[in-house]
Amino acid sequence: MVKTWDVIVIGGGIIGLSISLALRKLGTTVLLLERGEPGREATHAAAGMLVECGTETPAALQPLASASARMYPEFAHELQDESGVLIDLRDQGAILFSAGYLPAYSREAQDARPLGELEPALDDAEIPAVFLQERSVDPRALAWAALRAAKHRGVDIASGTEATELVLSNGRAAGVSTEKSTYAAAAVVNCAGAWAGNIPPHRFPTRPVKGQMLSVIGADRDLLRHVIRAPEVYLVPRSDGRILIGATVEEAGYDKRTDVATIQRLHQAAIRMVPALAQARILEAWAGLRPGTPDALPILGATATPGYFVATGHFRDGILLAPITAQLMSQAITGVQPDYDISVFSPARFST
Ligand code: GLY
Repeated sequence: MVKTWDVIVIGGGIIGLSISLALRKLGTTVLLLERGEPGREATHAAAGMLVECGTETPAALQPLASASARMYPEFAHELQDESGVLIDLRDQGAILFSAGYLPAYSREAQDARPLGELEPALDDAEIPAVFLQERSVDPRALAWAALRAAKHRGVDIASGTEATELVLSNGRAAGVSTEKSTYAAAAVVNCAGAWAGNIPPHRFPTRPVKGQMLSVIGADRDLLRHVIRAPEVYLVPRSDGRILIGATVEEAGYDKRTDVATIQRLHQAAIRMVPALAQARILEAWAGLRPGTPDALPILGATATPGYFVATGHFRDGILLAPITAQLMSQAITGVQPDYDISVFSPARFST
């Protein structure tokens, strides 16, 4: 007998993994197809800042961003408990430097200490700053935890398996073809990130938006406590002493190479913020491909093909938005009214 699943999830990034887990919780059988290795693309490249109220967060996304930020402690601890993987959810907060707009709440309202006391490693430049009660997480550990939890909960996973086409039967989604095989399911959800538009017959208008970054480690493992966000650069400390420095936003197709001049420019910008980083050793430099969309909003919900769903285009917020995306998409796929109105994110907005 040919095996079939209730749902096939295409894409093993944090969005696909989180949706698979949420569907399993509802008793649905799930096959996750991943073209490479789960969690090794945009998720692996992400810094893990849980920016709830970014100066670039589109207004339409704000309710989901806030809801997902609230869900994070439970989401993270559940994955941590189930997998035994420490995911480094930090809640020391962020310091946001901005020459222009600053969110309405001030550092004084949140933390009355002078900046130099709050984060002694910072150069005391006279740029306006606010303290924000934001968290960060290690996305690589998060994906590893989600993968282990998914296996533990009985999600079937096929890695190194690229989806080439949606299979249709009487106009409905009926499965997915890959180069080697065809898999059958009652529903399919496309979470293929920057590759989501490459699976016919639907052509979602996603594109890769490259981000280069680096990580450093110094002798002082406690050099930074807070995430630092500035117009030129951001810094994200991990509890093991690493500091991530990011990131470029480049239109470069599927090119994931780094270049020395760009990495040095990011490093120098970080040193201007935190002079002690001049003594830190570079550990790694890498690039990832964020899934961008024409209006910078994600693409979420049912498509025009019954049984075919999409959850992609999370651009710079995929790690933050994973818990709420998993909740809303698992509801939509199982025929439950989603807790938030996701019609503004519908793929129908791109149909001609
Ligand atoms: N979310 C951080 C970035 O896109 O660089």
